[in-house]
Amino acid sequence: MQQPFPTMLLYGADYNPEQWPESIWPDDIRLMKLAHVNMVSINIFSWALLEPAPGHFEFNQLDRIMNMLADNGIAVDLATATATPPTWMSGIYPEMLPVTRNGIRLSHGSRQHYCPNSVDYRREATELVRRLGERYRMHPALKMWHINNEYGDHVCSCYCERCAEVFREWLKARYQTLDKLNFVWGTRFWSQYYYDWRDILPPRITPASHNPTQLLDYDRFMSDSVLACYLNEAGILREVTPNVPITTNFIVTFKAIDYFSWAPHLDIIAFDNYPGITTPPWEVAIRHDLMRSLKHAQPHLVMEQTPSQLNWMPQNPQMRPGRIRLQSMQAIAHGADGVLYFQWRQSQAGSEKFHSAIVPHEGSEHGRIFQQVAQIGSELKHLSQEVVGSRIAAQVAILMDWQNWWAVEYRPGPSDQLHYWDEIKAFYRGLHQNNVPIDFVSTHDDLKGYKLVVAPLLYMLRSGTANKLEQFVAEGGVLLTTFFSGIVDENDHVVLGGYPAELRKLLGIYVEEFDPWIKGMANEVVVREGQMQGTYPCTLWGEVVHLEGASALGVFGRDYYAEGPALTVHQFGEGKAYYLATHGSEVFISAMMSYLCKEVAILPLLGIEGTLEVTQRRREDGRSIYFLLNHSEEPIEVVLHDTVFRSLLSGEVLAGSMQIAAHDVIILLEEKDAQLEGI
Ligand code: GAL
Repeated sequence: MQQPFPTMLLYGADYNPEQWPESIWPDDIRLMKLAHVNMVSINIFSWALLEPAPGHFEFNQLDRIMNMLADNGIAVDLATATATPPTWMSGIYPEMLPVTRNGIRLSHGSRQHYCPNSVDYRREATELVRRLGERYRMHPALKMWHINNEYGDHVCSCYCERCAEVFREWLKARYQTLDKLNFVWGTRFWSQYYYDWRDILPPRITPASHNPTQLLDYDRFMSDSVLACYLNEAGILREVTPNVPITTNFIVTFKAIDYFSWAPHLDIIAFDNYPGITTPPWEVAIRHDLMRSLKHAQPHLVMEQTPSQLNWMPQNPQMRPGRIRLQSMQAIAHGADGVLYFQWRQSQAGSEKFHSAIVPHEGSEHGRIFQQVAQIGSELKHLSQEVVGSRIAAQVAILMDWQNWWAVEYRPGPSDQLHYWDEIKAFYRGLHQNNVPIDFVSTHDDLKGYKLVVAPLLYMLRSGTANKLEQFVAEGGVLLTTFFSGIVDENDHVVLGGYPAELRKLLGIYVEEFDPWIKGMANEVVVREGQMQGTYPCTLWGEVVHLEGASALGVFGRDYYAEGPALTVHQFGEGKAYYLATHGSEVFISAMMSYLCKEVAILPLLGIEGTLEVTQRRREDGRSIYFLLNHSEEPIEVVLHDTVFRSLLSGEVLAGSMQIAAHDVIILLEEKDAQLEGI
């Protein structure tokens, strides 16, 4: 990429004109202009129309769509259409259809009906993508490539014979010898020993629980297999159009795909944001912070959100007035440089005909939804120049590891209530209430620049992670990790000699026993002094912890480990390492997060805590933009100290106290040299 992209806030939608008579297209353009649309994603599910028969390509309609958009100054995010192979293809190559774990081959008639390792699928996709690339490489409308669609969403794992073969190759490359594989998979257990590579299978249904390392390797292999599909297409497009940025739309909290390992291969991170009507704002914020962090603060895109109603929940209420505006502004507030919808015009037929769209079945611009979308479009256009390219800078990070996610949730395990993402969310919520910028980091990321790192439920410690955390703390960082951490290595082998093994020195503790509770069992954490003083209920898990240099800030209140450490702190080098040996209540986690933020001197943005969400984007000229989002039903009064701001939406100069209406947002730019007394 030669220049940063995008150069303005992007606004638009998935546009599927091929579902409509061409006579309707001019009205689409008229309405897009009214809604301030500047980019559309097209061609997402068009393979059957582009290749009506094997090797016979028809691009005339797509040419007309591209030309119409170029003529009207609307940028195109051009999809490669490979998520929906034509029906004739699975007739000719039935083995390209994916097979489920219990051996059922899925059929066409929906979408994503391909095995990611199918040679036929890959070859046909390669041909289509090369032709698309070559045909549109110089087209003025082409501004971004959108590879496939929501990889893995419907089929994230396939268990067919072809996958079995490729899995064996993947294993050979990883382990070289069967001896090594037998050791790593622990195959002396239950007589699973392998004498020939040919005997290794995908983890299909077995009589009892499967080999956990084999399962873990299959998750790794499948994430890599789907990535290989993406790389196959991206490789062609990079060759044909080296200057056009490439993306694909992620699904955020998607366990099957390790997005950290994908991120370096995308030029821009894009994801689909579909909160339900009751999803709390922090649970939307976390999606942005995770997605943005994949490329280290580089602005991301919301590739899809709904203009109102969904169609795939059990019931699909309309989003209440104002909600989508606030949700769109929240995206920008968390570092996105664009928001697009699914979809532009509501389908007349097909399984998404009751999914809302910007242009409803009625067809005009007069309804509530269109008007709201047009208002947001006009506001984003207004904000664009001031905001685009500015970045979030965080000093707090949450460490997340997809492979740990896969490993810690395998059954059987100590508890079926261990949910990695829920643990991450619990700490994110506690931090988010403090209105501090939050990044996510992977085990490969550099921790320099962060003051506080929270690493919940770090069951599997891959090689190098413990050293990295030690170095971070030794140099003055504050780390918090929680129960059932430091248990296994990257092969899912328990690290012997006492939990939490590699973290023992850093945390200054030894965990003799862990105790996963059944329903109805609970305990409490008692903190007898200091800012967190109190008695807090805790659930899920207890531990018998011995201090080996750490001190106990809180102890368990009951049971055979009453008075035993529940929350510990250990001075290590210049920094401190905290350990929480249970799942704390919401109140306790909040108290802890405020305590730790204060300890590292990270204060709430603009001094505001509580119901109002506040974020900050920093511009290259050093000035900050603050987003104040009122997600509540009531107006909120705020007082701005010391600085004078300009409201980017109303243009007013603001200082002192002001009111933010229910469901409203205020976006403030620091005025240059405008300290309060100077005005
Ligand atoms: C997304 C998908 C879109 C559309 C949308 C409906 O997951 O990428 O094509 O199906 O859901 O909400």
